[in-house]
Amino acid sequence: MLQTQTEAGFEIVRREDFSDVTYLLAVRHPLMARAAKPGQFVIVMSHPEGERIPLTIADFDAAEGTVTLVIQAVGKTTREMQQTCTIGTHLHALVGPMGVPTHMGRAKKVVCVGGGLGVAPIFPQARGFKQNGAKVIGILGFRTKNLVFWEDRFRDVCDEVILCTDDGSAGIKGFVSDGIRQAIAAHPDIDEVVAIGPPIMMKACAETTRPFGIRTMVSLNPIMVDGTGMCGGCRVKLGDVVKFACVDGPDFDGHLVDFDDLMLRLRRYAEEEKAAVARWSETCRMRALLAAS
Ligand SMILES: Cc1cc2nc3c(=O)[nH]c(=O)nc-3n(C[C@H](O)[C@H](O)[C@H](O)COP(=O)(O)OP(=O)(O)OC[C@H]3O[C@@H](n4cnc5c(N)ncnc54)[C@H](O)[C@@H]3O)c2cc1C
Ligand code: FES
Repeated sequence: MLQTQTEAGFEIVRREDFSDVTYLLAVRHPLMARAAKPGQFVIVMSHPEGERIPLTIADFDAAEGTVTLVIQAVGKTTREMQQTCTIGTHLHALVGPMGVPTHMGRAKKVVCVGGGLGVAPIFPQARGFKQNGAKVIGILGFRTKNLVFWEDRFRDVCDEVILCTDDGSAGIKGFVSDGIRQAIAAHPDIDEVVAIGPPIMMKACAETTRPFGIRTMVSLNPIMVDGTGMCGGCRVKLGDVVKFACVDGPDFDGHLVDFDDLMLRLRRYAEEEKAAVARWSETCRMRALLAAS
């Protein structure tokens, strides 16, 4: 695991905003760009007093020396980063690559499913399976057309792309599970499905493939604290077995995962998270007032 850091931190060299809540940061870190593998993640601190948050490596480019993160502003830290992380600024700390890389195996036909923000972290997996010689079907799900991103990147690395929107404004009207059913109907020889997105979506994907007995891997996102297997914060249940997502995952067999337990644990600190956003918003308001006076 690489923890090297320049005095100034890690420079943000590119930023794109996909919507008013989703943004991409490309960060200069040549060593990590060389070491990263599909399925891995980093832990980021945007400033010295910041919270440590886990983020999936959505892309890595050894030639450019960058790793790419795609972030959804959902709470205090991710909203604060949305405001402060601009080109030329630096992340205070960037630790990784962490987690077990995705097992590419010998699968010959793979379906890579991304839902919403999950479209970004599934990208290196789709590219990795393709480079490994598999036929890759990408299934991308968004609520509506103007939230769609990276369709072109998936078309470059996939043999087939099924775009799904909840409202039918782009691609087929339906959820990614409808896309999976369509792919299974057209390809009875699918070896593996890999799905990343909100837990409820990954659960639906696992239930869709279960009757067909297709191996289905999902990337879990429980609350993480240390990221080293010590604190137990990220424990997930697979049947009767307990695993730690930071060191044993984050990829697990979706047919074994107890998604209801995962979703319950993700809501555990809802009150504290609400209070942190309220405190931070108040600080931003006071700063704006002071600047204006
Ligand atoms: C392996 C892994 C990879 C992830 N990859 C991405 C990614 O690529 N892009 C992205 O936008 N998000 C990703 N997340 C989720 C991201 O870490 C949380 O959205 C972030 O920590 C929220 O912090 P906050 O202060 O903005 O929001 P908060 O208000 O603190 O939390 C909002 C929600 O985020 C989750 N969360 C909060 N703290 C953590 C934590 N320490 N670890 C995990 N989840 C937490 C909880 O579900 C919580 O309800 C990933 C999580 C994991 C475990
Ligand atoms: S985050 Fe502490 S054990 Fe995984």
